[in-house]
Amino acid sequence: MPRRTEDKRVVLAYSGGLDTSVVTRWLTERGWEVICMTADMGYLEADEELESRAYAAGAIAFEMLDLREDFARSFCFPALMAGALYEGRYPLATALARPLIAKALVDVAREHNATAVAHGCTGKGNDQVRFDVSVQALAPDLRILAPVREWELTTRESEIVYAQAHNIPITVSVDKQYSTDENLWGRSIEAGPLEDPWTEPPANVWEWTVNPEDAPDEPTYIEIGFQRGRPVSLDGEELDPVTLISRVHDVAGANGVGRIDMIEDRLVGIKSREVYEAPAATALRVAHESLETLTLSKAQLRIKYRLTHDYADLIYDGLWFTGLHQDLAALTASMQRHVTGNVRLKLYKGQAVTVGVESANSLYQYSLATYDEGDIYDQSSAVGFIDIFGLPVRVQAEKQLLRQPGGVLDVSSGGTG
Ligand code: ARG
Repeated sequence: MPRRTEDKRVVLAYSGGLDTSVVTRWLTERGWEVICMTADMGYLEADEELESRAYAAGAIAFEMLDLREDFARSFCFPALMAGALYEGRYPLATALARPLIAKALVDVAREHNATAVAHGCTGKGNDQVRFDVSVQALAPDLRILAPVREWELTTRESEIVYAQAHNIPITVSVDKQYSTDENLWGRSIEAGPLEDPWTEPPANVWEWTVNPEDAPDEPTYIEIGFQRGRPVSLDGEELDPVTLISRVHDVAGANGVGRIDMIEDRLVGIKSREVYEAPAATALRVAHESLETLTLSKAQLRIKYRLTHDYADLIYDGLWFTGLHQDLAALTASMQRHVTGNVRLKLYKGQAVTVGVESANSLYQYSLATYDEGDIYDQSSAVGFIDIFGLPVRVQAEKQLLRQPGGVLDVSSGGTG
């Protein structure tokens, strides 16, 4: 019995680059009807040519989805509120985009009665895990095809030869040096000369940020307004999330803010040299964190800092569609309910620094903090507090520390001398 065509219909996450163009044709040659889907998450390259390139590569349909608003609102801002930075540095732009693209793939697959989704990830990276795990969670019945993980075209050169032999229009040159990915929240750059950790990133790595050395000699000041942890205004003007991120991006990038160069631990066990440009994410994070220090209690901040690495790992590891994520997100949103106010940032030669912060919910009390006139803090109470606080210290010092053979300064041998 002949197969229904839908049995071999697949929705491919299409970027228009060499890999996904070749994947389109490669799948077509194996009997698949390929629907190319491109998700716009901001700073999409070669926007207008994507559709014609997809058809030229053999697609039967092309879908372009503008997901910028969803991405900003439901991914970037929650990650900002959670303070999520992978290994303390990477604001997770690429990692955040993957679960949303996975959801879009599933939605388009349903619309077109497809039985599979596909992506152009290699078997060495995190992105394959993020796509596969997310699709498995959302649509366990769909097959997942990852041709780059298994095909014979193991080098960039062999892909180019394949593309040329099949008349697939590609604009890339054989000597393209880097593998990049960009969206509203940041730009990721890997490979080429960056694979040597001793090599300083060449100047052509950077596209969004000016070299801090060449940044303006005068600082730029901006004011960001937050409501419940979400950025809502820039210099007093209320803005939608996408516009706000883009405006901060421009001004922070112009001052060289947001360059990140790190050795990172991939989920698949590989250490890798990664370079990022994240001007908006970096500046917004500095501002957000400052507002938190004003509006969260010490105890809330301690819990927040403890969870933030777990939250970042979860995003990095592609575990967005999980119960734990929903729990962490709910806790974060609850913790952010008083994080409302304004932050003044100074952007100057690669740095974003908070120079002013205010909130109607501020826990900072001038009358308690001041060393000037108007002090209401009762310094005599400190004596009783210290007496109790220091009680166990005094007992232990007398019984143990003062008697240890190595003396009280000996910390290297536990005092045993
Ligand atoms: N290392 C980053 C991550 O895993 C960036 C990956 C970039 N992807 C790419 N296709 N260049 O999130």
